[in-house]
Amino acid sequence: MAVLLDGKAGAARVKAEVAKEVEQIKAKGKNVTLAVVIVGDDPASRVYVNNKKKDCAEVGIISEEYALPADTKQEKLISLVKELNERSDINGILVQLPLPKPLDEKAVINTIAVQKDVDAFHPVNVGRIMIGEYDFLPCTPAGVMELIKYAGISVEGKNCVVVGRSNIVGKPMAMLLLHKNGTVTICHSRTQNLKDITSKADILVVAIGKAKFVTADMVKEGAVVIDVGMNRLPNGKLCGDVDFEAVSQKASYITPVPGGVGPMTRAMLLKNTIKAAKLQYNL
Ligand code: GUN
Repeated sequence: MAVLLDGKAGAARVKAEVAKEVEQIKAKGKNVTLAVVIVGDDPASRVYVNNKKKDCAEVGIISEEYALPADTKQEKLISLVKELNERSDINGILVQLPLPKPLDEKAVINTIAVQKDVDAFHPVNVGRIMIGEYDFLPCTPAGVMELIKYAGISVEGKNCVVVGRSNIVGKPMAMLLLHKNGTVTICHSRTQNLKDITSKADILVVAIGKAKFVTADMVKEGAVVIDVGMNRLPNGKLCGDVDFEAVSQKASYITPVPGGVGPMTRAMLLKNTIKAAKLQYNL
C-alpha cells in the first residue's frame, strides 16, 4: 500500500507559515488584502469563493468580495479590475472563473496588474514560469510541487509524465517538474499508446477530469501518483482521475481525493497573496 501524500497536513503547514508572515507584515503596520471578484451565481464558483474567503480569514488575510450580477457588462468588470489595480490597500486580485457568457475572460485576466495576479494567469506571469523567473506560480501545480517536496521525493532525472495540458494545470506542471530537472512528457486526449507512456512514469500527475481514468495497469510499480482530478460520481461521492483502490496497491506514494491536491491548491493561493503583499510593500 502506497504512502498517502496528505494534502490536509501539507496545507496546515503552509497556512501556519503564511499566518506567521501575515503577523510580521501587520507588525509593520500593514494589512494583507485579497480582492475576490465573482460574477453571476454559478454554484460551484460560489463554493470556491466562500472557501477562499474562509482560508484567508484563517491566516489573517483580509478578503474583500466583489459580487457582480451575471449580466454585468465587460466594461464594468474591466473598470472594477483597473480600480483594484490602482488601490494601494489591495495586494492580490482574483477573478473567479468561468465568467458568464459573453464576458471575455482573456481580456479580464490581461487587465489584472501582473504584480497582483495571485492566480498567475496573466500572460506575463505565464511567460515568467517558462523562463523560471517567477513571483507567482499557479496554485495547483505549486501545491503539487509542495507535496512532493514535503515527502522528500526527488524529481531530478526522474521520468515525469503529466496527463492533461491545460494552461492552468498541465502545462505549468510540466514546467515546474522540468525546473527540478525531471524528464517530462505531456500526454493528452490525442496521445497514442497512453498506457505505454504512463507505465514508464516514476512520477505521474493526472489532470484530465475523468473519474478513475488511470487504472493499475497504466502505472509502474513504485510510482509516485498525483491525482489532480475532482469528479462527482453518480452516487454523489467525490473521486479523482485515478482508480485509487487499485493504484494505491502499486504506487509508492499517492494523493487521496479528497484531501490530496485540493487543500494544497487552496493553501498556495494564500502563499501567493503574501508574496503579492511583500512585492507591493517592498518587504
Ligand atoms: N475556477 C476554477 N479554478 C480556478 C482558479 O484556480 N482560479 C480562478 N480565478 N478561478 C477558478
